[in-house]
Amino acid sequence: MTIIAPSILACNFLKLQEEIESFNNLENIWFHLDIMDGHYVPNLTFGACVIKDISKITKHALDAHLMVTNPLDYIDTFKKLNLKNFTFHWEAVTHHDSAISKLKENFNSVGISLNPATPICSIPDYILKEIDLLLVMSVNPGFGGQSFIESTIEKVQSLDEKRKVLGAKFKIQVDGGVTDKNAKLLKDAGADILVAGSFIFGSSSYADAVNKLR
Ligand code: DX5
Ligand code: ZN
Repeated sequence: MTIIAPSILACNFLKLQEEIESFNNLENIWFHLDIMDGHYVPNLTFGACVIKDISKITKHALDAHLMVTNPLDYIDTFKKLNLKNFTFHWEAVTHHDSAISKLKENFNSVGISLNPATPICSIPDYILKEIDLLLVMSVNPGFGGQSFIESTIEKVQSLDEKRKVLGAKFKIQVDGGVTDKNAKLLKDAGADILVAGSFIFGSSSYADAVNKLR
């Protein structure tokens, strides 16, 4: 079953508890947490204290997507949050090997995110074999509610082929502009996890929206 990751960036923060609890009866849900620092992307969201409170009221996995200039600065606070996965942007880091080994010491699952304009070949094969998740951005990071970039489908296909050739284990996650119009194409292309913000939180029934994506 495809994992659906509601991006809480699109939820009503005045009703955060209610929004989170709306997913209680659903399975294979990861809450996608968009951490933005106002430097790497021109937007600012939330951090560890909000995530800590969310973790107290849900059994679903917490998936942190750090759109920040210095992801390693977040290790000490984030390692206490019992995250399912910690993803950083490949483009934000200079010394990838040491970053990945430090993150792997502190998190069970480490992901790399690629911006739409960053090709797959930027990541060496040996790193693809080490990571747990590859997040393919299907919009430019920073804001919810943007239109899906169609070339993402081919990118996911190529990544899936590469994963098979290498015998690599990473999950493929797609984030940005995901709707019921492109979810099946993404799944068929090889995506394992679909992040969706405005499609889910803009629907009258979140459960129906999740089912439509599946
Ligand atoms: C964008 C974020 C996404 C975003 C997705 O920078 O990484 O997770 O919230 O929202 P939608 O589904 O509305 O594009
Ligand atoms: Zn995201």
